[in-house]
Amino acid sequence: MLQVCNIVIVGGEGDLAFRKLYPALYSLHSENLLAECTKIVAFGRGNFERDEFLTRAREWADKSDYIEAVDDQMWEGFCERIIHFVGDATAAQDLKKLKQQLSDEDVVFYLSTPPSIFAPICSAMGKAGVVNERTRLVVEKPLGTSLESFNEINDTLFQVFEESQIYRIDHYLGKETVQNLLALRFANILFEPLWNRSYIDHVQITVAESVGVDGRWSYYDESGALRDMVQNHLLQLMCLVAMEFPSRNVADDIRDEKLKVLRCLKPIDQATVRSHTVRGQYDSGAVDGEIVPAYGAEDDAETTTSNTESFVAIKAEIENNRWQGVPFYLRTGKRLSERYSEIVIHFKPVIFKFIDIDPGAINNNALIIRLQPNEGIQMNMMNKVPGLAEGMRLQNVGLNLSFEEAFEEHRSPSAYERLLLDVTRGDQTLFMRSDELRGAWRWVDGIIEGWQATGQPVQKYKAGTTGPDDALSLILQDQRKWKDFP
Ligand code: BG6
Repeated sequence: MLQVCNIVIVGGEGDLAFRKLYPALYSLHSENLLAECTKIVAFGRGNFERDEFLTRAREWADKSDYIEAVDDQMWEGFCERIIHFVGDATAAQDLKKLKQQLSDEDVVFYLSTPPSIFAPICSAMGKAGVVNERTRLVVEKPLGTSLESFNEINDTLFQVFEESQIYRIDHYLGKETVQNLLALRFANILFEPLWNRSYIDHVQITVAESVGVDGRWSYYDESGALRDMVQNHLLQLMCLVAMEFPSRNVADDIRDEKLKVLRCLKPIDQATVRSHTVRGQYDSGAVDGEIVPAYGAEDDAETTTSNTESFVAIKAEIENNRWQGVPFYLRTGKRLSERYSEIVIHFKPVIFKFIDIDPGAINNNALIIRLQPNEGIQMNMMNKVPGLAEGMRLQNVGLNLSFEEAFEEHRSPSAYERLLLDVTRGDQTLFMRSDELRGAWRWVDGIIEGWQATGQPVQKYKAGTTGPDDALSLILQDQRKWKDFP
């Protein structure tokens, strides 16, 4: 049975709401995944009249990659759910007025606003009496810029909500391919016996973007790639690859296991930061055949001399029995040659040579998990090249599973559809608990302090390439090599 759950989008006339939330909610509506009387409140400042607001929402739904074609009749039904509520979410009297318009059901408040106003919003919610044990709160990143600032934000939420009511979004966890990591690891007997330091040489996680800072220069300049991408998305991916079997498939058991990985991360500090991290910043260059400006020359750049990294590569080490001695190389950056995200598990070499062949001609097995685009899984294996030639010739060939082909009848929902649906169902599995975030921030703070203490500069890289040269050296110094970009 679908749970009736009203959804209030605070910041409901904002960019995120139009781009991601309304299209996702429309999809849930059209798949009959919202209870009949569920209302969606677009809580905004009144920058639009209702009609304008709906026209804009429709334009974004039409543009969504996840909606094949918006159906006019279905859209009308969706609009009937929408209450366009104009008010100030930091004012208790406006929240009281809103309460009168909602039935006495579960309510999800989705704060699609800057975290700087979480505190006044939460305190107004408290005063207005809109929070009870059936209220849930969804918050988006950035949740702080350090452990300390995260704790401050979190404390303001805790004044009104319990941990079990708070849904902290990391949209990577809502991606189908990311959820599939759990299925791959825990629903196939094949991998678990090999999933450890005896058989795995190292792991690479790449999240490459071809876009630049996308009109968010001032936010990004305060943040940089480490806080914007590694602290959340890449560390979450790493946790899913590295965690132990959870005792049950329930939110807290899974989150407990991820937390243990974060706690076992070897700190990177002043002494090790240079050998374990690389910072880069894009220079002008060509991406997808278009000339793009340098980071400091972007239209909204406030200075040309920023030292913020738009690329980071890190050698992370997990100090536990399973992973001791198996580095996890992480890299992410903007304005790279391609948009692609991938996890590569590199296995160790075969132990003995059963045929007389140059060991250099044998490629180690690799499991490639492609998160986006062209989602799929590939297993690189050595095979005999057919033919009558003397001796045995081997060739590395990939065993390929393309999700698009294998599941052609299934639509892949957007991350926000999955996450919004889970909030309405009260399932916190794909949301980050505060101790996970604290663990991630603690490790990231160590790197930032190391950078500050050593004055580690950014190395420029040409837009449209694979990042700075030092990123190659980071892994080469261990006699390993990044997997090539596609
Ligand atoms: C966001 C970052 O969290 O993730 C952005 O703030 C980044 O800078 C985005 O572009 C990447 O998400 P996706 O889903 O496009 O890989």
